[in-house]
Parts: sequence; structure tokens; C-alpha cells
Amino acid sequence: MIFSSVLFLAVSALFANVGLAQVAGTHTDLPRWCGKAYEPGSPSFDPTGESIPPPASPSQLLYVQVEPRYSIYVGSEITGSFIVDATLSKYFGSKYESLINGIPKLQELLFSIYVKGSVLPLVVNSVQVNSTDNLFDFPLHLLGSPQLEPYSITLSGVSLDGLQKFSATTEIFYLPEKSTGSVTKIDNLNGGLLFRGAGTNNEFQSVLPYGFYGDYSGYFEVNNSNVQAYYDQGFNVVHLVTSFVDGPLAPTLDYLDEIGLKFIYDMRGSFMNLTSVAYQVPLVKDYDSFLIYYTGDEPDGWEYALNSTTLAYNLITSLDKYHPVSLVLNCQDFYYEDYAAGADIVLQDTYPIGINATYSIPFDTYCNFTHGDCGCDNCVGSLFDVSNRLDDLATYQEWLGEWRKPLWSVLQAFDGEGYWQRLPTDLETWVMALLSFNHGAKGITSWIYPSTNALDAAHGAIAKVVTKAPVEGFLTGAQPVKVNVEGLESLDIAYWSVGSQIMAIVASASYVDLRVDVTVELPFAVRAIESSPWGNVTWELVNGNLHTQGLAALATSIIILQT
Ligand SMILES: *[C@@H]1O[C@H](CO)[C@@H](O)[C@H](O)[C@H]1NC(C)=O
Ligand SMILES: *[C@@H]1O[C@H](CO)[C@@H](O)[C@H](O)[C@H]1NC(C)=O
Ligand SMILES: *[C@@H]1O[C@H](CO)[C@@H](O)[C@H](O)[C@H]1NC(C)=O
Ligand SMILES: *[C@@H]1O[C@H](CO)[C@@H](O)[C@H](O)[C@H]1NC(C)=O
Ligand SMILES: *[C@@H]1O[C@H](CO)[C@@H](O)[C@H](O)[C@H]1NC(C)=O
Ligand SMILES: *[C@@H]1O[C@H](CO)[C@@H](O)[C@H](O)[C@H]1NC(C)=O
Ligand SMILES: *[C@@H]1O[C@H](CO)[C@@H](O)[C@H](O)[C@H]1NC(C)=O
Repeated sequence: MIFSSVLFLAVSALFANVGLAQVAGTHTDLPRWCGKAYEPGSPSFDPTGESIPPPASPSQLLYVQVEPRYSIYVGSEITGSFIVDATLSKYFGSKYESLINGIPKLQELLFSIYVKGSVLPLVVNSVQVNSTDNLFDFPLHLLGSPQLEPYSITLSGVSLDGLQKFSATTEIFYLPEKSTGSVTKIDNLNGGLLFRGAGTNNEFQSVLPYGFYGDYSGYFEVNNSNVQAYYDQGFNVVHLVTSFVDGPLAPTLDYLDEIGLKFIYDMRGSFMNLTSVAYQVPLVKDYDSFLIYYTGDEPDGWEYALNSTTLAYNLITSLDKYHPVSLVLNCQDFYYEDYAAGADIVLQDTYPIGINATYSIPFDTYCNFTHGDCGCDNCVGSLFDVSNRLDDLATYQEWLGEWRKPLWSVLQAFDGEGYWQRLPTDLETWVMALLSFNHGAKGITSWIYPSTNALDAAHGAIAKVVTKAPVEGFLTGAQPVKVNVEGLESLDIAYWSVGSQIMAIVASASYVDLRVDVTVELPFAVRAIESSPWGNVTWELVNGNLHTQGLAALATSIIILQT
């Protein structure tokens, strides 16, 4: 659970029983976590709320989707952009009629995109069947004037052979220009954020948030030297943990504006009180360093009402359309659809270090899929628990047929509470961070600062690298593509392709040195190794592939390549 520090136990106790047992299902009388009973002697039962794949279609389906490139546009912008995907899906879309010997014909799909109420198309173009991430620019003024309500968008078209008609709809926000405070957009293509505010010279800049949840009253509020020291350590975002029931705390937030340290506004203690939310949002929305909202802190673990995150989301976004809303999920798969519906950005907080995944030490019971609380839901106690969780959440979102949501990781930087027998090491910390990026995470905020000096420094060291060029440009400029090295399952590798450059990240989850030659076969020839901004691995090029002789235990490496 995220309330890992004694400092916050008081906060957690306040809210611990607020929403318990409000979830439809059986055994609502028992104390539960992620739908499971965890007390000695309590029964095993299906926790309910698991995501299920939609029924697979017996025939090939064509699934055409249209989505604005960015979650919002503002009045001072000239050009908008749509992403058009035309996937062959087994779950969604309409039957694809153009088959050759039973195999889908890959052909052009001609389409137009219109805004409701206009006969002038925004885009007239084509995409190939089974292609994704196609971008089409258009002049924003064709939508009409900037306004707070979204514009309704329709895409419709026909395949080149005339056999297939298709359509898709979306909404686009073209908002009035904002003259005070920050604006944050989500990049629906690559999952990163664009931020305009403190330190960006009135321009939108991509940002890869890397920082910590922070102890507010015990540390950040104490004096601004503490804020400055954190910032100097290399973090570009801070998630202030406090109840904030009296609204944002001005002196510290003013200082964040001054130095350009972005912050996440946490309403964990009040997001289910809509009166309180309505009071807080106007007070926070115009800070220059304000990045995103945060509502539910493990709403699934606590089993808050299933509609709680959406009710808060609807209210927040009715009051402020210029900042996304986030929350953290603690369970592997407990009503993902309902809780995630209330967020633009979903964080996950698997804490696998030092747990016993099968036996609950604090409760003296067994843990499995149907019972118990071992501190990390359905984990096995491996570094890969972190990356598996990211993959799982992406899959559940895909099963909904909706556009993907950015995922972030909350990494373990604490121990104790009965579940966690030890702290992560520096090396484990870096593996978990890079596993997160390899599996699509677009931000990291770990629990909780100040941690130990060693872990603060370990996070700071990698933050300095991943939040700045060139690494930041890859992480926010593309999605990772996985690479497998046969026979070395402990290696996790992905690459990002931006322009003519590639960045590769290699993380070894092996606790022993690998005393073998490691060759990473990339699906393209590498001309040169440009740099290695992170890690001590010595790579060489052999036949256009990355090669190294042996890899130290828990080695991590970031490499920039020329193709
Ligand atoms: C469609 O694209 C997927 C993913 O790239 C690929 O695996 C599949 O073979 C493609 N299908 C066809 C019919 O080309
Ligand atoms: C700020 O507070 C810390 C304790 O968190 C203390 O050690 C430090 O001396 C203070 N700095 C100033 C300039 O007051
Ligand atoms: C909800 O918040 C309002 C405003 O802060 C406060 O007056 C009220 O007591 C809160 N209600 C509950 C049930 O906590
Ligand atoms: C939200 O869910 C709770 C618990 O199921 C229910 O009592 C309440 O009426 C719902 N609120 C709204 C606005 O739907
Ligand atoms: C977990 O606890 C059980 C029961 O005490 C013990 O048998 C097992 O070895 C422990 N596993 C780990 C990984 O500590
Ligand atoms: C979990 O363990 C209990 C007790 O051994 C058992 O009854 C139950 O079937 C197990 N659940 C799963 C999913 O294995
Ligand atoms: C690289 O080596 C230095 C010196 O031994 C060490 O301090 C640092 O932690 C290593 N970095 C990584 C990513 O392993």
C-alpha cells in the first residue's frame, strides 16, 4: 500500500474505511483489499471486477479510430493534428470485406474528417489498412472559434476497392487562450506531456516527469531550502502529499513557480468530497508550475465507490480543462475500467522488493489470487512485477476499445510496514526505472521523499539523465519497441526511433553476472554508437548489432545509435 511512511499513517487512517465494501459483489462484510479478504480465517473467494477481453470475432474486423494528437489545443495555436489508426482487430470494428484467399487485402482507405455543422472538410486523405499512428494536420480555425466545449468530429470513408465503408468519431478541444498559469497537454500519440508554464518561455515543451511523492508538512513546507535541495538533485516534478483541505499552500507553491519545479496536486483526502474539490480547483489551476491533478490514491485497494474517480474527474474538468487528471491503481485488476475511467493518466505502484508474495507477514495468512494481502497485488516478488503491471494495465485499456492512456510508475523507495523486509538497492532502483520506460511508462514519481540518502541520490542520478536531452526526446518522442534476446530472459530491451536516431535501453534483472556474450539483434543496421548517456556497459558494433562481453548483475544501460 502506498501509505508506507509513518508520517502518513494518520492520513491513511482517516480515509481507510471511507469506501470499504461499497463495491458490488459478495463478502462485503469482510475487511478486504483489492477485493480479497486478508484476515486470518477469512475465506478465499473471487475478488470480482477482473477485466475480460471482448468476445473475439470469427471474421477479420477493420477498426478505424481517429483521435486528436493532443488532448487540448489553445487559441494561440495555428495547426491541429489528428491521429488515424486503421487496425485489423479481432475485437472491434466492422467485418472487413476485402479478402484475398482469406487474407485481408492491404489497400488504401480514403477518408474525410469533418467538424459537426460544417461541410468544409478538415482533412481529406488516405491511410493503409493495418497501419497506425498516421498524422494529419489541419488549420485549427476551420473548427470555428476557441471555446470551452469540445468540437464533435466525424471521420468517414471508403476503401479503394469500394467494398468497405467505415466511420469513426471523436472530440477535440480548441480552448480559449489561457493568460495566467500553466497549461498541460497529453500527447495521444506517444503518451508524454507537453507543458507551458514556469520555465518554458511561453512555449509548449515536452516533459518526462521524474520525481517523488513528497512529505509536505514534514519536509517541503518546512523551508524552501528543502525544496531547492530536491530540485538541485535533478528532479523536475514533485508530488506534494498533504490533505490540502484548506486549499493550496501558497508560500511553497509560489517558490515552485519561481524555480520552475513542476508539481502534482494531490486530492487523495478530499476527492470524494465534491464541495471540497470545487473549492480547491480554482485555487490551484493558475499556478505556473502546476502540472496535473491527482485524485484517488489506490481507490481500488481501498475499494472506494466505483463511481468516485469519475465523479471527481467530471467536476475537475468542468472547472479546469487545461490540466489532466491522474490517479494511482494499487491492484492488478480490480475494476480497472471503473477506476481508470476517472483519469487521463494512470499510475501503478507495484512494490515488489523484500516482500513475501505468498505469505502475508502482517496478517499471518496465505496470499494468492483469491485471498490475502502481501503488499503487492498478485506479484511474485520480482523486478518484473513492475513491467508486468504496466503491460497488464495497457492490455485492460486495449480491451475497452478506447484510446490508450499514459501510464506512469510509482517505484518503491521505502521498506517496512510489515510487508517490505528491505529497501531496494541502487541497482534495483535503476532496473525498475528502466523497465518502466521499456514498458511504456511516461513518468516516474516514487514513494516517498525524503527516502534514504542513497535512494534519493540514486533516483536523482537517473532523473538528471532521463529528464534532459537527448534521452528525454526519445522517451517522449516515440513509443518503445521490445527486443528479445533468445536465451536471456532476464534481459529487458527496448528501442525508440526518432528521426535517424535510435535510443536503446537495456536492463538486466539478473542478480548474478551474465558471463556470456550478449548480442542484441536490432531490426535495422546500426552505423555507429553515438553515446551512452547512462550506465557502465561497454558496447561494440558487430555486424550492425550491439554486442558486449558479459553483463554485470542488474546492469542498466542507455545507448544512442546512428542508423
Ligand atoms: C497487421 O499488422 C500486424 C502488426 O504489425 C502484423 O502482425 C500483421 O501481420 C498484419 N496483418 C496483415 C494482414 O498484414
Ligand atoms: C530547512 O529545514 C531543514 C530540516 O528539514 C534544516 O535541516 C535546515 O537547516 C533548514 N534550512 C534553513 C535554511 O532554514
Ligand atoms: C466537504 O468539504 C467541505 C469544504 O471543505 C467541508 O465543509 C465539509 O465538512 C466536507 N464534508 C465532509 C463530509 O467531510
Ligand atoms: C455513486 O455510487 C454510490 C455507491 O454505489 C451511490 O450511492 C451513489 O448514488 C453514486 N452517485 C452517483 C452520482 O451516481
Ligand atoms: C514466505 O513465507 C513462507 C512461510 O513463512 C516461507 O516458507 C517462504 O520461504 C517465504 N518466502 C520468501 C521468498 O521469503
Ligand atoms: C488460494 O489458496 C486457497 C487456500 O489454499 C485455496 O483454497 C484457493 O483455491 C487458492 N486460490 C487460487 C486462485 O489458487
Ligand atoms: C557506474 O560505475 C560507477 C563507478 O563504479 C558507479 O558509481 C555507478 O553506480 C555505476 N553506474 C551504473 C548505472 O551501474
